[in-house]
Amino acid sequence: MQHISSTLGVPDTSYVPRHVAIIMDGNGRWATQRHLPRIAGHTRGLEAVRAVVEASAARGVQYLTLFAFSSENWRRPVEEVSFLMRLFMSALRREVVKMHANNIRLKVVGDLSRFSARIQQLIRDAEARTAGNTGLTVTIAANYGGRWDLLQAMRKMLARSPMLDVDKIEEGELTPHLAMAYAPEPDLFIRTGGEQRISNFLLWQLAYSELYFTDVFWPDFDAAELDKAFASYRQRERRFGRTSAQVVAPSGLSGTA
Ligand code: IPE
Ligand code: IPE
Ligand code: MG
Repeated sequence: MQHISSTLGVPDTSYVPRHVAIIMDGNGRWATQRHLPRIAGHTRGLEAVRAVVEASAARGVQYLTLFAFSSENWRRPVEEVSFLMRLFMSALRREVVKMHANNIRLKVVGDLSRFSARIQQLIRDAEARTAGNTGLTVTIAANYGGRWDLLQAMRKMLARSPMLDVDKIEEGELTPHLAMAYAPEPDLFIRTGGEQRISNFLLWQLAYSELYFTDVFWPDFDAAELDKAFASYRQRERRFGRTSAQVVAPSGLSGTA
């Protein structure tokens, strides 16, 4: 296989980002600030999800990926985890109907084996129901971890091609096995809630994403905040290793690696 890196092409930032990936953080602190239990923040967080899904579709985003539950979030108090599971279940039941009506395709990525049989069934149903939709693809990362993703991709790669010459393994051998192989890499990564870290989100795919951090807590994030992130994205010059002059004069886009 000829090795062509995904970082070869330079997307034009004057367009809306094709793929936006968001770490929806700050629900707990949003609630605590209001003397509410943390779970109230998660409930409000679901409302922000609705607003951002709608705004993304309206602006022409093609892929919206939302980190809903990390492989590390099981470490939280058992009551909070079970509330999040119930919220996930009711969202899968209710929101999917609306998403389907809006031509949205829903995907869920992560190690789903740890979820209850009911949740796993709801996920399969939701994905099957919306599979033929041609509008925005919304991906929910649930029990997802970037390291888990890389490991499961490596296992699949080796299982499918046991004779693979280790000295010749290239990006193109691994990437089809990543959980989000159906999507281009995120153009724009957003993290709300003030922390400036990746927290084991899409480790491979974020290699060249533009990063945007905001102090706004997730329940307060809305279409106007999304537009601020897009405005910041439009100011970026994506170079993928080249010089600024090369990017401005695209004839300079040389090299195949
Ligand atoms: C993000 O908000 C939601 C999940 C991780 C499920 P948090 O619950 O992490 O909120 P903070 O960071 O404690 O404020
Ligand atoms: C990251 O948020 C995961 C999700 C938003 C689902 P956390 O709040 O769990 O992240 P850390 O552990 O503080 O970095
Ligand atoms: Mg948090």
